[in-house]
Amino acid sequence: MSAKIISGKEVSAQVKERVKAEADIFTAKTGIVPGLAVIIVGEDPASQIYVRNKHKSCAEMGFKSFQYALPETTSESELLELIDKLNNDKDVHGILVQMPLPKGINENAVINAINPKKDVDAFHPENVGHIMIGDYSFLPGTPAGVMELLASENIDISGKKCVVIGRSNIVGKPMAMLLLHKHGTVTICHSRTKDLPSITREADILVAAIGKLGFVTADMVKEGAVVIDVGINRTPEGKVRGDVDYEAVAGKAGYITPVPGGVGPMTIAMLMQNTLTAAKLSIE
Ligand code: GUN
Repeated sequence: MSAKIISGKEVSAQVKERVKAEADIFTAKTGIVPGLAVIIVGEDPASQIYVRNKHKSCAEMGFKSFQYALPETTSESELLELIDKLNNDKDVHGILVQMPLPKGINENAVINAINPKKDVDAFHPENVGHIMIGDYSFLPGTPAGVMELLASENIDISGKKCVVIGRSNIVGKPMAMLLLHKHGTVTICHSRTKDLPSITREADILVAAIGKLGFVTADMVKEGAVVIDVGINRTPEGKVRGDVDYEAVAGKAGYITPVPGGVGPMTIAMLMQNTLTAAKLSIE
């Protein structure tokens, strides 16, 4: 059997179209153009590409985009000062600080400084708490994008065995929570998990968010499972590939997301949705 490919390229285009249509109505009614501020500290090449793509997406949406590229040597207090300025800028509805930050800057201090109503990453503890309860304005882009991909294929989550590999605050933990909200039976696996393949082989829905090239091999996947690949890794030849051994797993899974062109474009589409939500919250 060969898996059906879930195209993040296509689904993200649909989400962006939906957001743009909604944003146009909002702007016509209120005169407010949604604005996103993106801060990058240092010169990490992958982060630079992500930030450029966010800027491009804002342009497509007709959103205002404010870019702050700060040097590697920026101090925590300088960064906090900029966030404070953006918190008080009425043209800025969403604030995103690209992670990871250089050593010496406390990521939690930075996340805590962002006004939760402008926290389009949904990283602030207040928003994390809202997500835990299931009553939220913002969802973090990557897990929200995965949920959109599942919905696009009408994949039923209720009662299904869902296995998330990875327990980061950005992906693994919120991913597990969103699957739980949809009534999945959720297991989180991580680097200390014993006999991980015996757990992943049980999964009806398997989400790989480990950050290791080709980590999920065909023998770890149940026949017909839904396999979602969150990984973005480089091969020794410099190609972008996921956490899943794509060719082999595609021969066994029921559905699979490619890398590139799977979860990646969804993250940005969901960020656009959050920026519109933030603009709406600014007048409530
Ligand atoms: N680095 C990797 N993914 C993300 C993300 O979703 N948001 C931010 N701010 N940084 C990231």
